Parts: sequence; C-alpha cells; structure tokens
Amino acid sequence: MLRIGFVGAGRIADVHYEGYRNNPNARLYAVCDTDPDLLARRAGEWGVERTYDDYRRMLDDPRVDAVEIITPHHLHRSMTVDALDAGKHVSVQKPMALSVADADAMIDAARRSGRLLRVIENYRYHAPFVKAKELLDGGAVGEPVSIRIKSLTGNARHGWDIPKGAQDWRSDPARAGEGSMVFDHGQHIWSLARYFMGGVESVFAFMGREKAESFHELRPGTLLDNPTMVSWKYGDANRYGSWDAVYSGDMVVRSRYYPIYVWTEITGTSGILWVNGFIGGGLGKPALEMYRDGEITSIIGADSDYASSFARAGRDFAEAILEGRESEMTDEEGREVLRLSLAVIRSGRERREVVVDEVGS
Ligand SMILES: NC(=O)c1ccc[n+]([C@@H]2O[C@H](COP(=O)([O-])OP(=O)(O)OC[C@H]3O[C@@H](n4cnc5c(N)ncnc54)[C@H](O)[C@@H]3O)[C@@H](O)[C@H]2O)c1
Repeated sequence: MLRIGFVGAGRIADVHYEGYRNNPNARLYAVCDTDPDLLARRAGEWGVERTYDDYRRMLDDPRVDAVEIITPHHLHRSMTVDALDAGKHVSVQKPMALSVADADAMIDAARRSGRLLRVIENYRYHAPFVKAKELLDGGAVGEPVSIRIKSLTGNARHGWDIPKGAQDWRSDPARAGEGSMVFDHGQHIWSLARYFMGGVESVFAFMGREKAESFHELRPGTLLDNPTMVSWKYGDANRYGSWDAVYSGDMVVRSRYYPIYVWTEITGTSGILWVNGFIGGGLGKPALEMYRDGEITSIIGADSDYASSFARAGRDFAEAILEGRESEMTDEEGREVLRLSLAVIRSGRERREVVVDEVGS
C-alpha cells in the first residue's frame, strides 16, 4: 500500500481525494497546506495520519512514497524538483509549470531521481474521451480530418464555491501565468488537441479581453482572455483544429463543479464523433455519439461524473508506480502541452501565426 501525500488541499483537492478512497494500492497518508484552518478541516474529513504546514517537512517523512502537488502554478517547479530529489514519485497538476525552462528542470530532476513524474490531466481519464480515442484510433470514423472544441463558462453562482484565495492567485499573472482561459483551462484543450490527433505544427489565435465582473475563478474586475478563437494545423498532413471559448455570464450551467461546459467534435473521412459535455454535463445529450453510414448512435448514454476522471487518475498513478510504467500525462507530454499553450499566447499577443517550435526549443 503506497502512502500518498497531498501538497495543497484547496478546491480541486476535493476530487483528487476520490483517487485514494477505496484505492487497493494506495491511501492518502499526509496532507500539507499553509492554511491552518483548511488543513485541520481536511485532516478530519479525510482521516489522514499526518499534517504539515511546510511541504519540505512532508518530504523528510520517509513514510511518504509519492506526492500529489495541487498548489498554484508558480510553485509547481520548486515543489516537484524538491520532491523528486527527496526520492518521492510526483503527480503535479496542470499546467506543468510557467515556462519551458521550468518544465525542463522538472524533467531533469525526474531522470536524476529515477522516480515517476506525471502531469495529472484528468480529461485523459474521462470515459467518453477515452472511448472516443479508442474508436478514432480503431478507424471507426475513418482518418481524422478535423477537431473542434468549445468551452462555455456560465454564471458563477452555479456549481462549486471557489475559495477567495484561489481567485486571488489566479488573478495574478506572476503566479498563474497569462490567461485564465488560454493558459489555465486551455491546458486541457491543448492536451485534447494532441491526445486525439497528434503533434501541432502552428497556431493562430484571436484573444479577446473582457472584464470579468463575476467569473468563478477570478477576482471581480480582473481582465479575462475571452472571447477567444484559436485554430491550429497538425504537422503531419492537411489537418486542422479549432477551439473557441466564451463567457456567457447570465447562463445557467447545470454543474456540481465548475460552471463550464466543454464539447468536442471530431470529423473523420467516414464519420463524426461527438463528446457532448464535460464538467457541467452533456447538455441533455448522450455523453458520446457517433455518426456513421447515415446513422447516429449513442455510444455512451449517461454522462460519467467529473470526479470519476480524478478517481481513475489517482488509481492509475499508484498502479504506474507499482508497475514501473508511465502514467498519463508523461512529463515530456506535459512539456509539449505547455509549449503549445505558450505558442497560442504568443500568437494572440503578436497577432500572427506562430510555429510551435518557436517556443522553448
Ligand atoms: N484538472 C483540473 O481540472 C483542475 C481544476 C482546478 C485546478 N487545477 C489545478 O490545481 C492546482 C490548484 O488549484 P485549486 O483550484 O485547487 O487552487 P486553491 O487555491 O483552491 O488550492 C491551492 C491550495 O494550495 C495551498 N498552498 C499555497 N501555497 C502553499 C505552500 N507553499 N505549501 C502548501 N500549500 C500551499 C493553498 O493554501 C490552497 O489551499 C492548480 O495548479 C490548478 O491549475 C486543475
């Protein structure tokens, strides 16, 4: 039984815990957070054996086998490198880091230590995405031609309460990076773009700016990088993708989590796959549908809950450690997703097509 430590016990740690409840290979042993009230509450809720207010003390504990780093973005690099140097396996939240140089330092530390480093990307454990990829790779809709993704953020009164602290650091580019949508939420989009159709050669982004008076994850009045429209070209053939993100601040989103709907359409040479909703659910449609031979089929009817993707991610992390294999996403893949996000930001800022290889290589 592996003993896991969480560094950061904030909003999203809620669903990380699902990965270790009833996990046959690992249990949540320790939690670290600098907020003493939160730490005490989490210790009680989760029944952990040890609590720490300094992550370095947690790393000194020889009983901790692996850590999940669930803190603001600017802390990912130092915490990951320190944990690997202390001999712990590491799962770090997205974005892997704020810069490619930071990601490189983390990968170097992983190779030096021989421990597992993965970037936890829960979208790659969401059952409809996993099944859609299986169908796509199996040729169910022919050769993939294009992918189209949409993110819609609705009224902040729906879904989870977001801690004020989480809004504070997210409203500060020095801690969160540049762009709540393109850089933070966008990591999932760039991950999906690569997951389904491979390496991206170049991107073009229109990045809007609007004042977020009540955006769930930002302080009122912070500038939000919305509406945004990004298109990209895959490197291996004449294939393209696009993503648009909008903020519909008066819209009800029926979510138990963030007030966001994400939907995806992949067109192949002989059919279409739709993953109809994530986070907020499927907007009343089946979670995964396929069009082929003139017929639409519901492949997965009921939506699988957002938290279940984190439960699978936790189980996979423990199994990967025990089996000595990689886990989604690998550190190298996390670096590529990060590079893609930075290319999109550069394109939006400089108003030109940006080749991904211009960034950090
Ligand atoms: N996969 C997803 O869908 C998803 C969703 C939300 C957040 N995230 C990622 O998870 C991370 C955390 O986000 P969140 O929304 O839970 O933020 P949050 O602010 O709610 O939680 C972060 C926690 O880290 C603690 N912390 C800060 N500095 C610390 C330190 N030095 N040592 C120990 N603890 C410290 C804070 O007190 C806070 O409780 C971010 O990287 C974010 O991008 C991912």
